[in-house]
Amino acid sequence: MGRAGNRPPRGECAEAGGFSRRRPTSDQPAITVIPSACRYPMLKLLRILTLKVLSRVRRSSPIFRAIFGVRVRRGRRILWDFTTLALKNCLRRRVVPGHDVLEIGTGPYAVLSLFLAKRVDCNIVACDINEAYVENARACAALNGATIEILHSDLFEGIEGEFDVIFFNSIYIPRQLGKELRIDLSHETESDWCGGETGAETIDRFLRDAPPHLKKNGEVLLGFNTKYLREDMVTALCEGRGYAVRARHKTFPNPGEVLVVGRQE
Ligand SMILES: C[S@@+](CC[C@H](N)C(=O)[O-])C[C@H]1O[C@@H](n2cnc3c(N)ncnc32)[C@H](O)[C@@H]1O
Repeated sequence: MGRAGNRPPRGECAEAGGFSRRRPTSDQPAITVIPSACRYPMLKLLRILTLKVLSRVRRSSPIFRAIFGVRVRRGRRILWDFTTLALKNCLRRRVVPGHDVLEIGTGPYAVLSLFLAKRVDCNIVACDINEAYVENARACAALNGATIEILHSDLFEGIEGEFDVIFFNSIYIPRQLGKELRIDLSHETESDWCGGETGAETIDRFLRDAPPHLKKNGEVLLGFNTKYLREDMVTALCEGRGYAVRARHKTFPNPGEVLVVGRQE
């Protein structure tokens, strides 16, 4: 693998690249990764152009507002990813007025919670492990005139109560792979992208700790990118933690997917 060809542009998310398959080993989930340098110059050029355009699109606040209906102050940060889009579409279908909703990992703009707050009359609590993101998300909520509670919490540690819907646009890139792809260089903290050694550690911890916070018929909406984590592997993790799969939301060509799971009867 040519290292230089693996490098995403600064500030770029790993999700935006082209992809190739990797075989699973016993301690590593099956993943799909950004490929080594393209061998064909025209394809390489096309890929670079695509990444640049995508990166601009994902930093544009007018486009962000058009897609999610959320206002943000101008900045240089990436504002959303493919899984954000998949979750947006899923939330529209699964959250109804009166629901108690919890978002884990709300990010610096609380984009999905604000999208929801503007459309459905529900009660939303959101949290993030990153204190700076929590501050920013609160400011963003105020800018959008939304009343959502935004807490600083490592998964469920600071969360009280039970919810009808718990959702998480998760982190899932294996540490070593992230370093190979130099994703680590474009983020200040591992909690933006790294799912531990296997890529699935945060998701597994999330699945383990969610049940006490789920109402009887409550649902967990778990967002991930199928270019990095195989759907069957995430399904197995869910079933191993005692959940039953109720639905899958995936729209071609978006590689982002949402698995909807609930407690097994
Ligand atoms: C992929 S981003 C999703 C951001 C936003 N919700 C979206 O959909 O675009 C993942 C977020 O999860 C947060 N996060 C990572 N580990 C976490 C943990 N253990 N507890 C809470 N939040 C976490 C990160 O700080 C980051 O904001």
